[in-house]
Amino acid sequence: MATNKIIVAIDGFSSCGKSTIAKQLAVRLGYAYIDSGAMYRAITLYFLRNGVNYNNHDEVVAALNDIHITFVFNEDSKTSDIYLNDEDVSLPIRDMLVADKVSQVAAIKEVRHFAVAQQKRLGRKKGIVMDGRDIGSVVFPDAELKVFMVADPAVRVMRRFKEMHATNPHITIDEVRHNLELRDYIDSTREESPLHQAKDALLLDNSSMTREEQLDKVIGWVKERSMARAQA
Ligand code: CDP
Ligand code: CDP
Repeated sequence: MATNKIIVAIDGFSSCGKSTIAKQLAVRLGYAYIDSGAMYRAITLYFLRNGVNYNNHDEVVAALNDIHITFVFNEDSKTSDIYLNDEDVSLPIRDMLVADKVSQVAAIKEVRHFAVAQQKRLGRKKGIVMDGRDIGSVVFPDAELKVFMVADPAVRVMRRFKEMHATNPHITIDEVRHNLELRDYIDSTREESPLHQAKDALLLDNSSMTREEQLDKVIGWVKERSMARAQA
């Protein structure tokens, strides 16, 4: 039977609002939402806890062989919690200690192959919204809708600062700015699948958009693409 379910791939720089729009879309469409960045954060948490030397290929491979990541839907939050070897790590992966190292870990070829293989499996049945850095370019190059998000850097810093300050009152704006600049730089200049706008991705600059306005915009795009798929 023909399905009009599609894959929505959302990529862009840090703190543009990718996961916000991805969650909104998934709830509205009844799709699964997968935060691919959470996987790289969970792997980084494991590396930090176990003192894995990122520069040692054998240590990285042995660590990946011991890592099992699962997403479990949470009825209350209407999104998925992430489990690392049966432990819910949804909160600890948001720590600045993880944010400081995640882009270095995510640049490792073996780590990317490990994460991308699982991400591709999660999209086999379509009806999924996934956000990250290489979703439209590498994970789902045939996604029916690709969105590339950008926002003014100063707006992004303040958005992320407000969010982190709620749980960590000691965090400073400078720390957040430094972390975002560093990650944007590493993510867009690494050798393995660097962050870039796929040529068929639609650009969304949400610097001055509310969450509702950005949702309206993207829902319009989803409708167009779902209709085209149903007619194909
Ligand atoms: O903090 P933010 O929401 O911007 O980032 P995230 O989505 O949690 O991703 C954390 C980090 O994981 C990014 O800075 C990238 O280094 C890496 N990442 C990646 O390389 N590829 C993806 N598809 C998703 C995230
Ligand atoms: O996933 P990504 O790192 O791109 O960003 P996010 O975690 O979705 O959004 C970063 C912060 O910006 C969150 O606290 C959002 O609530 C906020 N945000 C906003 O204030 N206005 C928007 N239009 C989108 C997101």
